[in-house]
Amino acid sequence: MEKTLSIIKPDGVSRKIIGEVIKRLEENSINIIAMKMIHMTKFQAEGFYAVHRERPFFDSLISFMISGPVLVMVLEGEDVIGRYRKLMGATDYKNADEGTIRKDFATDIEKNVVHGSDSGESANFEIGHFFSALEIVA
Ligand code: CMP
Repeated sequence: MEKTLSIIKPDGVSRKIIGEVIKRLEENSINIIAMKMIHMTKFQAEGFYAVHRERPFFDSLISFMISGPVLVMVLEGEDVIGRYRKLMGATDYKNADEGTIRKDFATDIEKNVVHGSDSGESANFEIGHFFSALEIVA
């Protein structure tokens, strides 16, 4: 069993797409083993996206991610990192496959509704950034 971190970003929360994302998780037998609504501080967002610090879109990404509440979740399932990334679709919704969350709901390469860890190593870091072991259902 693998774990991954999912974020429903400020655009997904404000546009009321939370239910739609969770429905797709449940339909695909992906288990939610932790979940909370948070409004990230700049410090938390910069730490989370530290790997992108040198990218030209970094400042804009941080402003976006702290612009409103987000729903952070820990997901569990077989091959869940890859399966959830498939459900999300490509980062740029214009390149995303039909039927993916980003193809259906994203409006912009930045405002792309959801985030998912891209590897086991990122998942460990990202889950630990937002959740303590006590908050995750065993
Ligand atoms: P995410 O999967 O959360 O990882 C980094 C985020 O940066 C990405 O989704 C987008 O929201 C945002 N972003 C903005 N511009 C770009 C870009 N040109 N390439 C990749 N990510 C971008």
